[in-house]
Amino acid sequence: MQTLNIIGAGRVGQTLARLWQQHGVLAPQHVLTRSAASAQAACAFMGAGTPVTQLAQMRSADVWMLAVPDAQIAAVAGALADHASATHGYRQPIVFHCSGAQSAARLAPLAALGWHTASAHCILSFASAAAAVQQFPGTACALEGEAAARAVLQTAFTAIGARCFEVQGQNKLLYHAAAVFATNFLPVIQRVAEDAWRASGVPAELLPQLRAALLHNAVDNIIRMGPAGALTGPAARGDVAAIAIQAAAVTQWDAEAGAAYEALSALALRMAKATTETSATSASSH
Ligand SMILES: NC(=O)c1ccc[n+]([C@@H]2O[C@H](COP(=O)([O-])OP(=O)(O)OC[C@H]3O[C@@H](n4cnc5c(N)ncnc54)[C@H](OP(=O)(O)O)[C@@H]3O)[C@@H](O)[C@H]2O)c1
Repeated sequence: MQTLNIIGAGRVGQTLARLWQQHGVLAPQHVLTRSAASAQAACAFMGAGTPVTQLAQMRSADVWMLAVPDAQIAAVAGALADHASATHGYRQPIVFHCSGAQSAARLAPLAALGWHTASAHCILSFASAAAAVQQFPGTACALEGEAAARAVLQTAFTAIGARCFEVQGQNKLLYHAAAVFATNFLPVIQRVAEDAWRASGVPAELLPQLRAALLHNAVDNIIRMGPAGALTGPAARGDVAAIAIQAAAVTQWDAEAGAAYEALSALALRMAKATTETSATSASSH
């Protein structure tokens, strides 16, 4: 089995390492975190690996996973490169980080030493490692970086049930922003809606019911018909006048919510127009 060194063993690091260990894909070797206690706990969870407290204690490995928070990736890569070039201690392995927004370019100091760099982003909410280990099979995983590194990671991730696909480095910010649209904005929009309902006099005790009914309804429709088919409301009807006066009312209540209403309405109108044009084209071609 190929060996795996791990720097950063939180939710993502522990989940992946435990799955690789369980499936006999990569054998966790040395584990470095910010504290001896967390590295020890990570090794216990993974059922393998030796906790260490500094880079100098990490021997060569076939693959290095930097599963530290995004803000730490560049600094950790720099420190690892400094250590590697000072000691000439490592052959040129594969190294990857797990960020959705950052590309393998973050690992440039290691690439300069001949390490094969990549990023691997799993599209799963790793709420806890214990839960994520159960939920992982079937998870989509975006691989980016050097072909040689991607090939090894594709084999390793596929072996634990991931569905891998390739993303170009220059597209990672857009790719990650898409995930923000897909999930992170939903609670924001729901919160604005509920605040506006409260401000317009809707009884607070009705809000949980409104939330559940409208969200379930919208999600069911989007899954069944796709976003364009599920669109309802003034934009779907092309009612530009209604949108303008509602936008003004929202802006009067909350300027940022008003700006969001205008921006989202513009996107909704664009989507409705494209749907109408597509239907007209397919009707005229029959
Ligand atoms: N969580 C998710 O849902 C999710 C999903 C996909 C991708 N990701 C990506 O996965 C990566 C890791 O995220 P995570 O959620 O697993 O983070 P996490 O649970 O906060 O774990 C981070 C780990 O990094 C260690 N660490 C922090 N700074 C370090 C440093 N300078 N040197 C060595 N170790 C350091 C921490 O040590 P201590 O344990 O001692 O604090 C901890 O073990 C990020 O790039 C993130 O964007 C996360």
